[in-house]
Parts: sequence; structure tokens; C-alpha cells
Amino acid sequence: MLIFIYQYKNGFTYITLNEAKKSNEEVKESRDNTDNEENKSEDITEVIEAEKAEHATTERNFTSSYLVNWWEYPDEILETEKDGDNLLVLVTKKYKLPPTYAPLDLVKANNSGIRRGENYYVRNILINDLTNLVNDISAEGIDISIVSGYRSYATQESTYQYWVNYNGGSTEEADKISARAGHSQHQLGTAIDFSTNGISDSIGSQFTGTEAQKWLADNAYRYGFALSYPYGGEEVTGYSYESWHYRYIGVDNALEWKNSGLILDQWLETR
Ligand code: DAL
Ligand code: ZN
Repeated sequence: MLIFIYQYKNGFTYITLNEAKKSNEEVKESRDNTDNEENKSEDITEVIEAEKAEHATTERNFTSSYLVNWWEYPDEILETEKDGDNLLVLVTKKYKLPPTYAPLDLVKANNSGIRRGENYYVRNILINDLTNLVNDISAEGIDISIVSGYRSYATQESTYQYWVNYNGGSTEEADKISARAGHSQHQLGTAIDFSTNGISDSIGSQFTGTEAQKWLADNAYRYGFALSYPYGGEEVTGYSYESWHYRYIGVDNALEWKNSGLILDQWLETR
């Protein structure tokens, strides 16, 4: 995705090219609809500021003197500040889990009754809440399945390499959708990729718009699950929208996160 950069107040912020185009179109439209000289200005700052308020979470202010593309890793990568067992550990492109970290309470996901759960491990700490989630969504006649859970450091290495190969060797494309080893929430055993029978349990963007996806978007937090990579959150998370990828942080935490209105990574930074 191309990025349109402009200066804003004390630092830099950026918006996607599509948003910039939209802004220009709105300016053109208002120019076409009026004779007012003021509206002939090419200055789209006001429109952009209005959009900024609307899409506050999609933007990032920079204090540093250079800009990076949203999918890139920072120059300095640090080890996670909290232990991997901590439900609130921040795992991002900047904060990496040690290769040796693995949760000690992994169990088969089908302990929760979720379909396809026999194929994946998750932490036992989330089983009760996942069971409640599965029971409640099923009671509404909506099917749900699990299509990824715990992935070891080594598995994540091959998963990432798969996406590099899939994209003709482009790490740039792979970095938009897949974490490098150590940087994946899947290594925590608390991240789950969900799917549903209407899309033959496939993983990915087909999940968007399904009944299961809509139900999760509205209700997952009540069971302790947060959507990690929301729509429009690329500049914060470093990943494209993943409507299927949820991370368990516990019911009380998820309620606080939801009320904060922040993207999960932003909220975890405050903990
Ligand atoms: N797809 C997510 C970002 C992961 O690889 O963990
Ligand atoms: Zn995932």
C-alpha cells in the first residue's frame, strides 16, 4: 500500500493513499458544487483533519526524525518485557519472545468443544472461557471452528517462510501478514485463528462477513478474547486486518481493553 505523508502539528503522521485520494475527491466535489473562491484552495488540511478525528486509531504520530513503512520491523528489537506466561505480555514487531519460550499448560483445544480442536493446542487457562464462547455461539445456530492455535518458535519460522515463498520470495509482502519467529502471538498459546463451516474452515479474509466473524466482533471480548489486528490498524500493529485472529487476555482485561477503545497493542503498552 502506498503511503501519503504530510506534516502535522509537532510531528509527522500519515494516511493511506486511498484516504488521501478520497480527501482530494471531497475537495474537488465541494469545488464543483460552489463558486466560493475559498473552496478552490488545494489545501486539504481541514478535510484530512476531519478524517483524522474519524480514523484516530489508524494513525500514528512520530517523534523520531524518520519514517518507516507500517509492515517493517524497527531497527532495534527488544525482548518482551513481561514473561510469555503473562496474559498481558506485549508481543509485536518490536518486542520478541525468546526462542525457548513455550507455555507449560498447553492442552488440546477440543477440551472446549470447538470443532477441529483436536488438531491444535492452546493454553489451559483459556479453556473455560472458550467453552462458554463455543456454547453461546452454537446456541445461536452459528458454527465455529479453530484453524490455528499454539505455534512453537520453530513452527512460526516455517510458517513465515511459507508466506515468503508464497509471495515469490518477497519478505515485504510476508511481513504484512505473517510474524517472524518470536514475534507471533501464536507462540503464547493464547492466540486463536477462527473459521466456520460456511467457508469450509478456510483461514483468511473469507472469514470476514461470515456470521461467526460478526458474532465474534460483537461478543468475543465478553469471553476474554481481543481482536489483535483490526481493520485500519496497520500503522499500529504492523499487520493487515485479520478478522479471524483473536488473543485471549482474560475476561476482566478484555472488558477494560474494550472500554479503552484502543487497539490491543496500544492498550497492552499501558499495562
Ligand atoms: N498472522 C499473525 C500476524 C502471525 O503470524 O502471528
Ligand atoms: Zn493468527
